Amino acid sequence: MNNKVSKNFTPRPHVFKMLPSFKTPLLSLFILSLLLSPSAAVPTTTVGFTYSPAPNSPPPEHVVTALQSLKIPAVRLLNPSPTLVRAFSYSNISLLLTVPNYLVGSFASNRSAATLWVYNNVLPFHPRARISLISVGSDVITSPTSGGSDPSAAVVPAMQNLHRALNDLGIRTVSVSTTFSFINVITTAFPPSSAEFQEPVSSLIIRPVLQFLEETNSSLLVNVYPYNVYRLHGEIPVGFALFQEGPFNFRDDVVTAVRYHNLFDMMIDAVIAAMAVSGYENVPLIVTETGWPSDGSNYEHVNNGVRDAEESQLYAEMYLQGLVSHLKSGLGTPLRKEGVSEAYIYQLFDESETKQQSNLSSAQGEITGQYWGVMYTNMSMKYNINFDSADRNSRKLGVLVPSIHLLWLLSMLVLASSLS
Ligand SMILES: *[C@@H]1O[C@H](CO)[C@@H](O)[C@H](O)[C@H]1NC(C)=O
Ligand SMILES: *[C@@H]1O[C@H](CO)[C@@H](O)[C@H](O)[C@H]1NC(C)=O
Ligand SMILES: *[C@@H]1O[C@H](CO)[C@@H](O)[C@H](O)[C@H]1NC(C)=O
Ligand SMILES: *[C@@H]1O[C@H](CO)[C@@H](O)[C@H](O)[C@H]1NC(C)=O
Ligand SMILES: *[C@@H]1O[C@H](CO)[C@@H](O)[C@H](O)[C@H]1NC(C)=O
Repeated sequence: MNNKVSKNFTPRPHVFKMLPSFKTPLLSLFILSLLLSPSAAVPTTTVGFTYSPAPNSPPPEHVVTALQSLKIPAVRLLNPSPTLVRAFSYSNISLLLTVPNYLVGSFASNRSAATLWVYNNVLPFHPRARISLISVGSDVITSPTSGGSDPSAAVVPAMQNLHRALNDLGIRTVSVSTTFSFINVITTAFPPSSAEFQEPVSSLIIRPVLQFLEETNSSLLVNVYPYNVYRLHGEIPVGFALFQEGPFNFRDDVVTAVRYHNLFDMMIDAVIAAMAVSGYENVPLIVTETGWPSDGSNYEHVNNGVRDAEESQLYAEMYLQGLVSHLKSGLGTPLRKEGVSEAYIYQLFDESETKQQSNLSSAQGEITGQYWGVMYTNMSMKYNINFDSADRNSRKLGVLVPSIHLLWLLSMLVLASSLS
């Protein structure tokens, strides 16, 4: 497990390469169409939490009540069980369920296994529990091969079998997808327009997955952690990762003439650009995990170890409030005006309380000593976050700058007419 983590976080020299280039005509066409399209009012992102019950956390029914009083509209269950899904009945909280990686092989080889899982975890509660999407595995490309079956080779057949199993049982409102981790599938974060999916997983897995998603109207699911990119790149100002305004808190993408005011948007647009290069730029995007830990022990190599717990807690609060306000603003990202459709904060309770649960498939799940929870087990919030806030005024530039060519053209026209 530790091996896996260190592998995941090996700095990749090309992550911040500065050589923008349009990889394919598809991408240029896509960006051109964006620049020419009028920007319309867009729906805001649904923001929810990832929830895995901890041995000492309150019963699921109480957690559901707390989530309802916080007006949380969506929850992602990493390790769903019938008891857990049942607790959400009549709550009107939409659910994203994740099939554990160890089941992916059997789903692929045997549709009855998928049907059985639906029988146990979905059918008895549908539609009183609002299950919206099922992710077949999480980060399967890094999942170790077990018992002769490689979950990454099995993921597309497994998704197809689950989709058919749901259809056979008359369940047509539940989409099927699988979850990737940004850091394991995207070649570069900067400039976003030069991002692509890494080979060989791109041809072997991601394109077939995207084709399935397009055919079935489903969404691409990606874990996006600005925290990890920030940790790997000392040159990134922390404010840029934390949605703070500041003199150095921006990065320009010279290819698209877009100025980015936060690392999150940059990473989202890297995914959008990679999708465009693959020819699937219209598949909706859901951020299945994002967050910031409140424990300082992992900042050591960032700033000579001079971070304390209080500061980490403050950073976590800044990140989460910045994220929520940004997502609720409806501004989207420069390359995707409608933004991500849903985003799940990782996670409800601290890792230290949930790590006893084996088989948690999250990339973050294996990092010990980090505290990603937003709620104490007594169900009071760790942070003071306003989930209703919409930051409509800040970062207006994020919307204007993508049309900079048009603005330039317009200003030339205005200038010309004022001179004549
Ligand atoms: C249930 O949630 C949906 C979307 O989150 C919302 O549009 C709807 O009004 C809610 N219904 C009730 C009864 O609260
Ligand atoms: C297929 O899955 C079902 C349900 O889990 C199981 O009963 C059956 O034995 C499996 N068949 C094969 C060939 O593995
Ligand atoms: C996909 O969604 C669109 C709009 O939500 C709908 O018009 C279309 O019929 C759907 N297609 C399938 C195959 O469900
Ligand atoms: C964890 O995964 C193993 C297979 O790798 C499985 O046998 C076991 O039942 C799983 N445990 C839980 C708690 O789901
Ligand atoms: C909940 O637990 C936290 C941490 O243990 C503590 O700081 C907080 O005061 C508790 N809140 C209530 C309402 O008991």
